[in-house]
Amino acid sequence: MSDYDVIVIGSGPGGYVCAIRCAQLGFKTACVEKRDTLGGTCLNVGCIPSKALLQASEKYEEAEKHLGAFGVNVSGVKLDMKAMMKHKTDVVDSNTKGIEFLFKKNKIDWLKGEGSIEAKGKVKVGKDTHTAKHIVIATGSDVIGLPGIEIDEKDIVSSTGALDFDKVPKSMVVIGGGVIGLELGAVWSRLGTEVTVIEFLDRILPTMDGDLSKEAQKIFKRQGLNFKLGTKVTEAKAGKGGVTLKVEPAKGGDSETIKADKVLVAIGRKAFTDKLGLDKVGVETDDRGRVKTDSHFKTNVDGIYAIGDVIAGPMLAHKAEDEGVILAEMLAGQSGHIDYDCIPGVVYTWPEVAAVGKTEEQLKEEGTPYKVGKFPFTANGRARAMNATDGFVKILAHEKTDRLLGMHIIGPEAGTLIAEGVTVMEFQGSAEDIARICHAHPTLEEVIKEAALAVDKRMLHM
Ligand code: FAD
Ligand code: NAI
Repeated sequence: MSDYDVIVIGSGPGGYVCAIRCAQLGFKTACVEKRDTLGGTCLNVGCIPSKALLQASEKYEEAEKHLGAFGVNVSGVKLDMKAMMKHKTDVVDSNTKGIEFLFKKNKIDWLKGEGSIEAKGKVKVGKDTHTAKHIVIATGSDVIGLPGIEIDEKDIVSSTGALDFDKVPKSMVVIGGGVIGLELGAVWSRLGTEVTVIEFLDRILPTMDGDLSKEAQKIFKRQGLNFKLGTKVTEAKAGKGGVTLKVEPAKGGDSETIKADKVLVAIGRKAFTDKLGLDKVGVETDDRGRVKTDSHFKTNVDGIYAIGDVIAGPMLAHKAEDEGVILAEMLAGQSGHIDYDCIPGVVYTWPEVAAVGKTEEQLKEEGTPYKVGKFPFTANGRARAMNATDGFVKILAHEKTDRLLGMHIIGPEAGTLIAEGVTVMEFQGSAEDIARICHAHPTLEEVIKEAALAVDKRMLHM
């Protein structure tokens, strides 16, 4: 048994970052993690391995299909699955070991095992009970299943299984046209799998701006993904020859049977609080099982806080990290604030899809008067040089004040480009500010400048 100032339960991007910042601020800190490695969903089975495979499969597709157009002829391109998976494992290992190093450097104790809150200020890990002035719940999230469909991580898989196939499936049905479905659908499609995305709603990426969803679907369809929108899966059974699925129109109608080698269930994630002992100490959760907190990440029980996927808000690593830092600083008596409108979201397909702020649909619903500026990558010199002209930048600005309300990008490097929108929104800048800022030539960023000029209908290159 040891006494700590802070015990963080969970070592994902929320938990490990919170632990590091707490230690930096002078708190005696421990972090409980039940996995064999630190880093949570993100480093072990989420952001990092998925990006390693996205990057690798992108290179494969480039060599196979796109280099010729640049006059670089490669023949005999071959996929070495073992090497590709080793790349993924190596990247995961170096990242998770990196957190172990940072824990040692900051003198944070890793309490190995499953943690549960015994009482206010008391966390049990294995046979030991440790005490802490502050307890931070950062236990993250888990896959949502579908009733009657058993995820065996072999034939019917979650994202975790889909990151670990040992050979390229001939066909795969992805249930859910959200972020995971599109990213992992893209990986396997590039490697040769016939991928069909089944989405319950009538559009993919339903939380993003409608124009982005439409454009994304058009581009991904051209790349070879099949889509069945407004469709639900009512049954999926794994057998010898693969998986048999029953699907029917979401609004009712005749069902049909589809067969696939693999099925990926990617219909969202839910807060994970199993065996944490929340009932015992009386920590309240909401109707979706998320730990309820106030704007200072405090639960209804004194000395117990929560951050990251386990609380409300977008389930994103950088959101969890920012909450971890701010909570640590608040515990040290400092102040902090997160503007949830300024948290970017990126889908790491090719082209990437990225957004910050309000969508056009949200502005309409709120009744906020707005202006739109849109500019395509086809009219940008650098994008042409890269043979990457799909997509556009869309800027939403307040009709009267011109304040930037949202930026939505589908195009090459969208995930990097969106940083400009985030920065301008954080500084409460306007579309005119972006239009007046000097953007280097020739860069993809010039599309952002042109979209800002388009808000006032004065684009230069169109
Ligand atoms: P988690 O990372 O889930 O970590 C929680 C940790 O707590 C886990 O390690 C778990 O083992 C541990 N734990 C739980 N209960 C206990 C307990 N009782 N005792 C001890 N330990 C416990 N987000 C992005 O921003 N960008 C991306 O590109 C991205 N890609 C993703 C790809 C995939 C396939 C998936 C599944 C997710 C992706 N995400 C991405 C989402 C991102 O992974 C999460 O938002 C992020 O990991 C949340 O961090 P967290 O710290 O709240 O929780
Ligand atoms: P998601 O919420 O992004 O998408 C789920 C999709 O499934 C939605 O389009 C939804 O309409 C659909 N759906 C729901 N029920 C369905 C059903 N019964 N049949 C068919 N479709 C159904 O969730 P996803 O993709 O599982 O990702 C989980 C979380 O992980 C997300 O919140 C996301 O933020 C995070 N993540 C982030 C990434 C990133 O930032 N690049 C990458 C991967 C995951």
